[in-house]
Amino acid sequence: MKSRLAGRVARASVAPLFAVALAGLAPVAAGAAPVWITVGDKAHQVMQKVAPAARTLATRGISVKVPAQRGSARLQQSVENVHVVEIDEDMIPTLSMAVHMKLAKCGGFIQHASQAEALATLHRLEGNPESLLAPSYAIDNQPQVNALMPQLQASNLLSTITQLSNFQNRRYNSTHGVSASNWLFAQWQALNPGNRRTIRVRQIPHTWAQPSVEFEILGSGNSGETIVLGAHLDSIAGSGIETSRAPGADDDASGVAGLTEIIRVLMAGNYQPQRNIRFIAYAAEEVGLLGSKAIVAQQAARRDRVVGVMQLDMTAFQGDATDLWLYTDYTNAAQNAFVANLAATYLPTLTVGYDACGYGCSDHASWHNAGYAVSFPFESANATYNRAIHTANDTTATFGNQANHALKFTRLALAWMVELASDATPATRNEPAAKALVDAARVSRAK
Ligand code: BES
Ligand code: ZN
Repeated sequence: MKSRLAGRVARASVAPLFAVALAGLAPVAAGAAPVWITVGDKAHQVMQKVAPAARTLATRGISVKVPAQRGSARLQQSVENVHVVEIDEDMIPTLSMAVHMKLAKCGGFIQHASQAEALATLHRLEGNPESLLAPSYAIDNQPQVNALMPQLQASNLLSTITQLSNFQNRRYNSTHGVSASNWLFAQWQALNPGNRRTIRVRQIPHTWAQPSVEFEILGSGNSGETIVLGAHLDSIAGSGIETSRAPGADDDASGVAGLTEIIRVLMAGNYQPQRNIRFIAYAAEEVGLLGSKAIVAQQAARRDRVVGVMQLDMTAFQGDATDLWLYTDYTNAAQNAFVANLAATYLPTLTVGYDACGYGCSDHASWHNAGYAVSFPFESANATYNRAIHTANDTTATFGNQANHALKFTRLALAWMVELASDATPATRNEPAAKALVDAARVSRAK
């Protein structure tokens, strides 16, 4: 990996820009490969116990918006500490395990390709990244949404969830994880039987075994803009070896099932978007958002511009009376308001609450960190999420072998996608956000 080398060479020049760079600059032991992660406070504390040799290079208080009270739409500023850590690659599985065990779920960490990239991410987070491009959030495509939304079926969601959770696991580096990717690829290919020329289905290879899967419909407008709906394909549990049982029914077969059902309905209705639309089942989310991070990095080399992103990760288990929870950290406030308006318009019987993860807890964070507008509608408040995740018990039984809750999120995601994708008017450029991105790139280059 070229990035490792770049990081090693760059190390000595970090201090002037990040005055808190500390922890003696002794080289990592010979033979050990360093990797760089950004990590929240709680996971950082766990890390200091299980991996005392890991070196904290920088710490910043990141200001995030969180609900004033749980569930409230009123947001207030709060501070989450984020650390950049250099750690031996061999310690990552240990850290991942310890964090999952000690924190029940975790305080998450995100892997970066180089030290420079990790520090640049921290720098961007400090600037509270806003989206570079702002599309119209007017709700003005009701005929299209109303024609398609009622066709979504809970039974189809349950069927996909069941089939995905029948794989022994969907680990990013196991043979089962690869089989699950191949299976989903075949499913999505079968949803384009006529091989429409404006549609491309592909697997995206990575530096680990499991490919991500992508279904893309080219828009007929000429704005060159793209809407991305994502979920993660991989699962994790227990000791995390090749044979571990990790059904990942809620986390996150539920999200992948939502994508699959939306593709089915759009294809059956012969829906032709103005903007490009892309469905992505990310590999390797559970080991530090690796798949989405790689895909977001590839986006820079593509010609289209991504103007809206949504992540569906855990939609099947209803943890409390509120139906739809919008998470306010590592997401875009303007797009979140649009999503709440969509719920009020298209799903008026459902209730909406607001909460926060406290760290970049799923693939939405990869997009957010790079300056894209992303939303994360979630199954429950953060206190009442499905405790079976990351265990062999994350099966359809934990949510009563039905997908009624998951259907609400699938409907919301379809409304969001069709509303945005049916618009031909290009997004406008958000100048302060553009400047922040350029500044972050400068910091990155200075390394
Ligand atoms: N689906 C979870 C995130 C989640 C769990 C959000 C519970 C809210 C409540 C996701 O797959 C996950 O496990 N993420 C990791 C962090 C990631 C950076 C590896 C986590 O939260 O432990
Ligand atoms: Zn997940």
